[in-house]
Parts: sequence; structure tokens; C-alpha cells
Amino acid sequence: MTHQIKSFKEYQKIYKNSVRHPEKFWAKQAKTFKWMKPWKKVLSGGFEEADVRWFEGGQLNITENCLDRHLKDKANDVALIWEPNDPSQAFKTYTYKELYSEVCRCANMLKSNGIKKGDRVCFYMPMVAELTIGVLACARIGAIHSVVFAGFSANALADRIKDCSCKMVICSDYNNRGNKSIAVKEIVDEAVAKDCSSVETVIVYKASNTKVKMKRGRDKWWHKEIEGKRKTCKPAKMNSEDVLFILYTSGSTGKPKGVVHTCGGYMVYTCYSFKNVFQYQQGDVYWCSADIGWITGHSYIIYGPLLAGAKTLMFEGVPTFPDAGRFWHICEKHKVNQFYTAPTAIRALMAQGDDWPSHYDLNSLKVLGTVGEPINEEAWNWYKEKIGKNTLPIVDTWFQTETAGIMISGLGGLSPQKATYAGLPLPGIQLCLLNSKGKEIKGNGKEGLLCIKYPWPSMIRTTYGDHARCKEVYFSSFKNKYFTGDGARRDKKGMYRIIGRVDDVINVSGHRMGTAEIENAINEHPNVIESAVVGYPHKIKGEGIYAYVILNKNKMDANIDTKKFNSSLLKVVTKEIGPIAKPDKIQIVTGLPKTRSGKIMRRILRKIAAGEAKNIGDVSTLLNPDVVKKVIRGASKILVNN
Ligand code: WT7
Repeated sequence: MTHQIKSFKEYQKIYKNSVRHPEKFWAKQAKTFKWMKPWKKVLSGGFEEADVRWFEGGQLNITENCLDRHLKDKANDVALIWEPNDPSQAFKTYTYKELYSEVCRCANMLKSNGIKKGDRVCFYMPMVAELTIGVLACARIGAIHSVVFAGFSANALADRIKDCSCKMVICSDYNNRGNKSIAVKEIVDEAVAKDCSSVETVIVYKASNTKVKMKRGRDKWWHKEIEGKRKTCKPAKMNSEDVLFILYTSGSTGKPKGVVHTCGGYMVYTCYSFKNVFQYQQGDVYWCSADIGWITGHSYIIYGPLLAGAKTLMFEGVPTFPDAGRFWHICEKHKVNQFYTAPTAIRALMAQGDDWPSHYDLNSLKVLGTVGEPINEEAWNWYKEKIGKNTLPIVDTWFQTETAGIMISGLGGLSPQKATYAGLPLPGIQLCLLNSKGKEIKGNGKEGLLCIKYPWPSMIRTTYGDHARCKEVYFSSFKNKYFTGDGARRDKKGMYRIIGRVDDVINVSGHRMGTAEIENAINEHPNVIESAVVGYPHKIKGEGIYAYVILNKNKMDANIDTKKFNSSLLKVVTKEIGPIAKPDKIQIVTGLPKTRSGKIMRRILRKIAAGEAKNIGDVSTLLNPDVVKKVIRGASKILVNN
């Protein structure tokens, strides 16, 4: 197992060494895994060509390290706990032996349905245990999983299926969420009907008793297909740099891109970061409340914990069902030791009052984690006081889909803590702050663009099918640096505070979205001719979505029914992307502030959306300065959706 740091002093020493001898450091971590064939070279390539490779020449299977490796000592220890949406239903547990058998059975089912090494398999599934099993089954046989968050629309799903031409889609019939039941299979049918000709098979996991339509020859039931399958399956020999998975994420331009991660480096980094950040001790129960549809779920529900031989809990439901005490109820019920959630959930639960956590016994908790967006001081303090009883450490973990693993964070209980600061980089991670010209800002107490100056094992390898895009987005802004897209501040002690995105990406409740992507969706509305989307501070979501729209002339002149327009616009966005992309505020405008070269001045729109119209500054260089006044005036008459 990867090394676990035991004190802050040790952290400082190891950090220094990791910078001095990075390859030696990572080789030491990697050696603790089971390799089918040892690697020849620790690190090859570089940022310049975006061709970084780790542990080349080595062969492994990540599931052998997640499962088989633990069978000797902990075959009968719990690996996975599944807590259902409805608390009156029984929860499920899988020991390492049971999970191993289920993964092998599923792997054999994939094979019998024609899935081979390198094939892409799309998952569009709620948080059922079978999602974890299916993902690991892909890895077992070397198929590439592409998990799509089940809140995305049929259109968004179809785009993702087509982009990497998935041969199979695995879904459920329904998604049980709170008191709702969402018809998942119908969405898949609609998506696959949109030119997804690569899809040969749809496997449907039965999560409800309601009937669904099955397409003959294409659709098959999970429970029928898995029946009688053998409980062993030889792990595929994977090269370190073979693709493990694709996960789509939004950028500042264009359609979402498929971030590609590979087997060896991802394995080493997720296990290493999991053990150190959460200070996981054998026997502890660890719970990350994220959805597996995002990177947090991949790395810190499935791979990291299982690689470390941990007990990992997955939860099907939502924080407020049946009531706002659900999270704390689960912590009490399963005696959770490490709890990891998002600031948006903390804020939402905080808004429900202090009473809820006080009803439950939270004494088992040892470490509290947060991830996904900057955490405000009030939420940090509430988490620390009300959940952590002022004694537990909080790890504010910064990372991205592209980094795959936690890069900046305290190590539970060992590191200094400061509200709103993610803290120090993990050993092996070399950060820097740059100014917009690419000059490094040295010294502490400074702010700048957050970059990474040395490769790390779980870094993005490419964007699927478009390597030029990967190079352009991450490695071309600054020579020999990976650019994160975030701005950050470094305090006197070298601790980092993430300020937020500096590009046209917004972070709504920890969900990352491109403003261009939302604009494209809005522009699909027949009455919209142009739109501009910006984020604005939102009490619960962190950032809300504010859309400025220009309607076609007929609609502008006639006094349109704004209520009707509003709801039809929300429908369009829900159809194009999903409910998570629905604008919170819509302002109908007659023009948008633009530069002389025709670029929308989002800086101005952001100020207006934030209610800071007074600080806009000089607009005289705009193509149409008069438009600004109009937009400011119009901001008092907006359509509000929550
Ligand atoms: C962006 C990455 C990391 C998994 C979930 C999101 C923001 C992430 C933090 C944090 C402040 C954070 C950044 C980053 N972010 N964690 N602890 N503090 N901001 O993954 O969807 O790839 O988004 O989320 O802006 O760039 P993602």
C-alpha cells in the first residue's frame, strides 16, 4: 500500500524530497501495488507536447489491485455499503470476496455480450451498487467506461455516446430520488435514437417494479444476462498507459470534452491521495456523498478507497429525503468515520437549521471533507462547529476532472487549517501562480493564475478524439505549465485559497458548466436570437446561472407573455443539457455590451448580475456603450426561477 504520512513534520520532509526526486518518490508509491510486469521508465514525455506517460513498460490491472489483492487478508471484510434512497428499505453490503465475485460475473456478462478490450461502455445509471460493479467489470476486461451523470438530458447523453462511439449502454429502468421516480430507460431510448449507431446492446438494471419497454435484439435485462455467469474472470493485462476511462467535462468553449485517464498513474495517485488526505485507518467506514457521474465519485467512491482496502459507502438518495437529517442519520447508522461532501450540500443543510445534526450521534466521525467549489467561511464554520463539534479536522480538497486526484488539501488532522483555504499541495504536486503574461509570481501573500509545473501520475492524457484540443486548452496558455483555469491566493504560510474559475466556466452546486454550452442551448429556443450567460453569487449553489437574452423582433415589440417564455426557455435548456443547466435568472435585453471586435463583455454582465453595476468602470471603449445603461435599468425586471 502507498505510504501514509503520519505527522506534519513528515509531510514537510516528504514534500521537499518529492520535489527534489520526483521519479524516485512516485516509484516508491507505485511499488506497493501488484504489477503483472514492472515498468521500465517512471516518467516519459512532457507538458510541451502533452504527451506525459507514467510507468511505461509496466502492466497491471487496476481491479486486481482493488479486489484480488485484498482477498488474502480481508475476503470477509466489508468493501462496499449501499444505502438505498428509502431508509425503510434494507441496505446492502458486499465483502471484498462478494464484490470480487460480482465484478467477475459482470465482466463475464460484458464479454458474452461482445465487449472486448478497448471498447467503450457508457453508464447512465443512478447510484445503485451495480454502477460500481459495472465500472469495475469494464476495468477487469480492459473495456473503457464512460459514466454519464444521470441528470443529463437525452441530447447530452447522445452527444457523449457518439463522441466516443460506445458499443453498449448500461442503465437502469428508473432512478429513485427522494420521492421522485425518474424514467431513466426512456431517456436512454430517446438518446440512442439520435444517431447513436455504435450502440449494439443496452443492458437494463431493474431498480423498480414499473414496466418499461424493451427493444428486441438490443435491450437486455441485467439480472437475466448475469444469471449463471462464472464468479471468476481473469484480469486483462493492461499497459500502464492504456485508457481506463473517459469522463466528459465542460470547458469554456465548444462541446464537453472527454477527459482521458489511463491505468497505471491513476491507480497510484488515487490510492495515495485517498489514504493521506483522509488518514484512513483499516476498519474505518468512509463515505463520499458525491455522484459517481463526476470525478469525485470515480476516484473517491470507487477506485481510491477500494485500492486502499477501505470500506466505502455509496448512497442512492438525496440529502433532504425523507428529511434534512438524512446525511446525519446515515453517519449514525453506519458509524461513518470519514465524511466527504460538497459546500453546496453543507449550505443547503445549514439553511435547514442546527437542530437536524443535533438529533444524531456523530461521534464516530474523525475527518470531514469538502470538494467541488470554494467553501465560504460561514459554511466552513458551521461544518466545523455543528458536525465536527469544533474538534474534527476539515479537509478542503481541491482538484479537477483533469487532475483526477486531490492536489491541494490538508491531510486529516495533521496539517494547519484555515477557513476557505484548501491548504498545501500534496507531496509530488508542484504548484505555481502566474500573472497573465505567464511570469511566475514568487513569494507569499500573492494572487495569480494557478498552474502546475511538473507532471503527476493521474493527470489528463488527452481529450478523446482530439489531442490538439487537450494541448491547446491546458498546455498552451503558458510554456511548460499545466493551466488549471482557476485563480488562487497564496497566504504567508504558503497555503492556497482557490478563488474560482478565471475562464468562462461556472460552477453551480459543484457542477461545472460552460457558459457557451448553456448559451447554445438557450439559442435553440425559437424566439431567441442571441444570449449571454454568466455566473452570479448564489447563497446555496455557490454560483447561479444568469442569462441575458435577446428575442427576435416580433417578440420584442409585442408585449410577450414573459411567464410563458420563461417556462419554455427552461424546457429548452432542460432538453438540451438537463435540469442542472436551467438559468436561475433571465433578463430580456435589447442588446449586449460588446468590444469593437464583437466579443461579448462578460465582465460587465457579471457585475450587473452580481448587483454591482456601480463598479463597472470605464465602458467608453465598447462598440455600444449606451447598451450598458439599458441592461442595468432592465436588471430590475428579471425573471427569477428560484
Ligand atoms: C473545478 C473542477 C474536484 C471534483 C469536483 C469538481 C472547482 C474543485 C474545489 C475546492 C475551490 C474547487 C475549481 C476546479 N473546485 N474543488 N476544494 N475549492 N474550488 O470537478 O467538475 O472538474 O471542476 O471545481 O474551480 O477547477 P470539476
